[in-house]
Amino acid sequence: MLVIFLSSCSGSQSALDPAGPEASRVAHLFFVMLFGGAVIWVAVVAALIYASRKKNAHSEESAGRVILWCGAILPSAILCALLSYGMWLMPAIRPWVPDDQPVRRIEVTGEQFWWRVRYLDETGKTLFETANEVRIPVGEPTHFALKAADVIHSFWVPSLGGKMDMIPGRTNPLALQADREGIYNGVCAEFCGESHALMAFRVRAVAAADYEAWLSERSAETRTNGLADAEGLAVFLKNGCGACHAISGTAANGRIGPDLTAFGERNTLAAGTLPHTAEDIARFIADPAKIKPGVRMPHFGMLQEADIQRMAAFLKELK
Ligand code: CUA
Repeated sequence: MLVIFLSSCSGSQSALDPAGPEASRVAHLFFVMLFGGAVIWVAVVAALIYASRKKNAHSEESAGRVILWCGAILPSAILCALLSYGMWLMPAIRPWVPDDQPVRRIEVTGEQFWWRVRYLDETGKTLFETANEVRIPVGEPTHFALKAADVIHSFWVPSLGGKMDMIPGRTNPLALQADREGIYNGVCAEFCGESHALMAFRVRAVAAADYEAWLSERSAETRTNGLADAEGLAVFLKNGCGACHAISGTAANGRIGPDLTAFGERNTLAAGTLPHTAEDIARFIADPAKIKPGVRMPHFGMLQEADIQRMAAFLKELK
């Protein structure tokens, strides 16, 4: 039982399996708190057993002393120590970085029920947009500017750090760093509507050189040789998908839904809801609300089956 219980503490979505400095400090604080809580619990249970064994043996005075020491002084001392330790650790958990220091900047906006991701240059200008997957370099902090478009969401990557709320009309800062390469799961940690539980994302931490190469490749605005699947694109445009979705370098430039440029590189579909297969893409196009209740995308089940299949095949391979 214990082995099964403990095995659930590791993995790409566990605050107890930290992959970055902030998450390590959070995990450390958790274990210190757990220890403090365990000491109080053992003391209380021991006092309970002692009291139940010795019937009628306590004078009123000794009972008062036990209540004073075990019920007030000891818990207060332990809680004060834990609070002081937590306060002392706080500045290290969220280190402050001066504004003039050049940093990696990514803006993430919570939408019902997906994540709009914009990569920014040093001046705050948008280099390009993507969705539901964030790529960061290993070994250095990335600064997130967190926003919300509709209701309050919360951005949380348990393996990399603590949560930060995304509040409409505000920009909340958060710096995260991954110390080893890998894919980390993120979730929305604030109830935001029907599909709150279907609002996940992936953070892909890659070597700094690979990140640089990817960033400059994606930042280059024009596609010189067009899309490999021109026929697929034509079906996509014919059915009006480009009014809500953008594919860089094509006539599709909608900004309402997720940007689909390089959609084929993503690991999941519909913000972590489905595996990234052509069948699931077709299923989602035909009836998004069946998979994700409350989704803003209308259903396209009235389109010809052949068109839906064609678009799914096109999107699956879209690089
Ligand atoms: Cu977004 Cu919960």
